[in-house]
Amino acid sequence: MTKNMEEMINHLKAQGFVFQGSEIYGGLANSWDYGPLGAEVKAKLKAEWWNYFVKKNPMNIGLDSSIILNPKVWKASGHIDGFNDPLIDCKKCGSRWRADKLIEEFDETVIAGAMTDLEMEAYIKEHQIKCAKCGESNFTNIRKFALMFKTNQGVLEDESSTVFLRPETAQGIFINFKNSQRALRKKLPFGIGQIGKSFRNEITPGNFIFRTREFEQMELEFFYNPNDGENWFEYWIDKVETFLTHKLYMNKEYYRIRKHEADELAHYSTQTSDIEFKFPFGWGELWGIADRGNFDLNAHQAASGEELTYLDPQTNQKVLPHVIEPSVGVERMMLAIMWQAYTVEQLEGDNSRIVMKLPYTLVPYHVAVMPLQKQLNEPAKQLFEKLLETFDATYDETGNVGKRYRRQDAIGTPFVITYDFDSLEDHKVTIRERDSMLQERIEISKIEEYLKQKF
Ligand code: GAP
Repeated sequence: MTKNMEEMINHLKAQGFVFQGSEIYGGLANSWDYGPLGAEVKAKLKAEWWNYFVKKNPMNIGLDSSIILNPKVWKASGHIDGFNDPLIDCKKCGSRWRADKLIEEFDETVIAGAMTDLEMEAYIKEHQIKCAKCGESNFTNIRKFALMFKTNQGVLEDESSTVFLRPETAQGIFINFKNSQRALRKKLPFGIGQIGKSFRNEITPGNFIFRTREFEQMELEFFYNPNDGENWFEYWIDKVETFLTHKLYMNKEYYRIRKHEADELAHYSTQTSDIEFKFPFGWGELWGIADRGNFDLNAHQAASGEELTYLDPQTNQKVLPHVIEPSVGVERMMLAIMWQAYTVEQLEGDNSRIVMKLPYTLVPYHVAVMPLQKQLNEPAKQLFEKLLETFDATYDETGNVGKRYRRQDAIGTPFVITYDFDSLEDHKVTIRERDSMLQERIEISKIEEYLKQKF
């Protein structure tokens, strides 16, 4: 059956995955809170990423840097001067737009990011692009809008106390490159991974959790000697794809890899490929893999006066490492995962069910235990408590069995165990699998083994 994003958003709210931010006060535009089950999925997603890119990868190490850094970091990285969006206002209704997005929505074959401001203004005029709110085609000139959130540190509110909330976690890694390399005695090539909040005062947030002003990033900065003859860019694209297909079970029909045109590249990048996902509103960037060269280390070395080179023990030569950066947003990945998982299925007769076909690696609960009748609550609870020691388990004793199955389908629980009257005699229970709805009868003493094989 077909599915749509509004219905999925309602479902995610009703089931405790994602709530509107500050809802009891009428909400806060484009802010979202993760409910009890959404928080579980998010935590598991981050753990999968951390395991794959940091803990289980012998080349890499992890880091947890501050959100507020010395403002000189953002000057050196180019964010203070260059991290802004081209903004225009409709002269009739006063609504505000990103000029590049207006153009790309008008003609999706055009890459507006590659145009100058003057070119964008001319394009909008020439094609008489209309304001999506009032229909007029009469805009102001483009103004630059800084995307970094500004605040003040300490009691004084003047220029000297201005600080920024980080718009990417990456710079926290670059400024700790030397500390980390020395402390862990790392040899090139090696990567430093980090998961953490980033903030951008986006002009056009939206599409649910796709683009928000507060979000989390999972970034790896992989440092290597440019003379080592390896193609680390392709290597990391491959690794990212394997992570998507083997850890998150992303279906190949939902994503594609797109290499950036030379004129669309960010100022720090010599080549970039995006993993794009087929979101309900169209293809969009999910994960960027950028070749940053030595742009960042070079900039920080020049601005701080600290030497950030690496002494190659083999050649005894100093080298400023180059960097490959795979960078992905946690919430954007959540949207992709939720959209792929959200399934509306027609059953026999007029019945239908909503199933969250989440990968087993990310489900809030592995297993649910339910007693068939009240008299069976006690032994069923005992089984639940036993399973809780090893698995993420939940217990449900309210409503009829059919309803309870639907409830577990709706949150993606892969296995539901029903304890019935026969269980008291034959010491077996019925276990039902989420996607196939197939049921089998299993000895209680063998359940843990059975589940261990599945997860
Ligand atoms: N350090 C590189 C960097 O930040 P980016 O392409 O601006 O590159 C990387 O961001 C990823 O972060 C994106 O692919 C996306 O998944 C996520 N992301 C960026 N801006 C976001 C926003 N406003 N809301 C949610 N996710 C965002």
